[in-house]
Amino acid sequence: MSDWISAAAGPLRGEVVVPGDKSISHRAIMLAALADGCSRITGFLEGEDTRATERAFAQMGVRIDAPRSSERIVHGVGLHGLQAPGVSIDCGNAGTGMRLLTGLLAGQAFDATLTGDESLSRRPMRRVIEPLTRMGANIESNAGLPPLQIRGGCALHGISYALPVASAQVKSAILLAGMYAQGETWVREPHPTRDYTERMLDAFGWPVQFGEGWARLCGGHKLVATDIDVPADFSSAAFFIVAATLLSGSEIVLCDVGMNPRRTGLLVALRAMGADIRESNPRARGGEPVADLVVRHAPLRGIDVPEELVPDMIDEFPILFIAAAAAQGTTRVSGAAELRVKESDRIAVMARGLCKLGIRIEEMPDGAVIAGGEIAGGEVDSAGDHRCAMSFAVAGAIARAPVRIVDCANVATSFPGFIQLANSSGFDLAATPG
Ligand code: S3P
Repeated sequence: MSDWISAAAGPLRGEVVVPGDKSISHRAIMLAALADGCSRITGFLEGEDTRATERAFAQMGVRIDAPRSSERIVHGVGLHGLQAPGVSIDCGNAGTGMRLLTGLLAGQAFDATLTGDESLSRRPMRRVIEPLTRMGANIESNAGLPPLQIRGGCALHGISYALPVASAQVKSAILLAGMYAQGETWVREPHPTRDYTERMLDAFGWPVQFGEGWARLCGGHKLVATDIDVPADFSSAAFFIVAATLLSGSEIVLCDVGMNPRRTGLLVALRAMGADIRESNPRARGGEPVADLVVRHAPLRGIDVPEELVPDMIDEFPILFIAAAAAQGTTRVSGAAELRVKESDRIAVMARGLCKLGIRIEEMPDGAVIAGGEIAGGEVDSAGDHRCAMSFAVAGAIARAPVRIVDCANVATSFPGFIQLANSSGFDLAATPG
């Protein structure tokens, strides 16, 4: 276990390039593995989550070369070319890896078992098991939790499915199973979520129709190898966006950040709070909108976060809680009960931590009410959640005294090299053995 100590930071300065997008990196490995031909992935996230997905496909007979860091050459085996993995597949900490793989494995000829770490073993899987079972899949679980045993040889058929919760992971699992299903698969969402699977299926030549809150495809086509250039992960950029906003005198440029509108809800919330964030050089990279973000220090005021923004910033609430704690006035978050079933119960973990740092915060079943104030030093527990750990590191940068953050090793799942990059831009962050 590794702890961190984050102390008062100077202004943040310079250019920051955060690692590649986690969601896109998972999907790039998956679709490239199932394509006919070789695909080159650049900007691949060298995180533990995405490497677990890479290992899963190597286990199923896919050759994946890594000529240099953040680059992969995937020798696709075709839609029906995967081999039985032999032993169970360990998805590590990755909910995306496990849920998407479940959809994809439901259509294979062989049996497979998916396992995960302690955190993933507590995460709800019925949300994928239920629609996939309706498609004809046979999946056994531990009362809705991992490990998952997915029986091979099931004939899948398309379904029309209205998702009860907005979830790109569930939507994607259904679409990936839909590639193996007879007939048409339709998914409708209560609110639009990130559309990376749809966009990438299209890039790999699979006919797919999609729009705001819906997607549709038919089985029986093939994926054709293509190259994928992964943009920088907005969710990783978010820690620097908030830190630069809060530290007076800061001015940083975050380069090549993925700006898919289903990911950038935090920008809307922060601008409503008074942040100074400018987008420059907007362009497309790998079929995705990207931009450089210029962030300058600005004082923040509390807001009521509009509920319709929640899916577009679902991974950014831990860091929004820090922004809210440093803002003048009160911030209210509601309609975000999904935060309780992420890598940790993020409402509880952030509320406990901020409370220890002297902030008045009231937990709600689906959000929190955060009274802005002065952040004190102290010890907080990230509960093994990468995004909570990095958020508390930002809290330490603006706190009156150093903040010790317990259990930070899982930051490597999404942001390898966070400490070095943070320190090179002005943080004072150190790891100590826990
Ligand atoms: C993801 C979707 C989101 C997000 C997760 C990555 C994806 O989960 O929280 O970090 O890559 O599809 P849900 O779709 O379950 O909300």
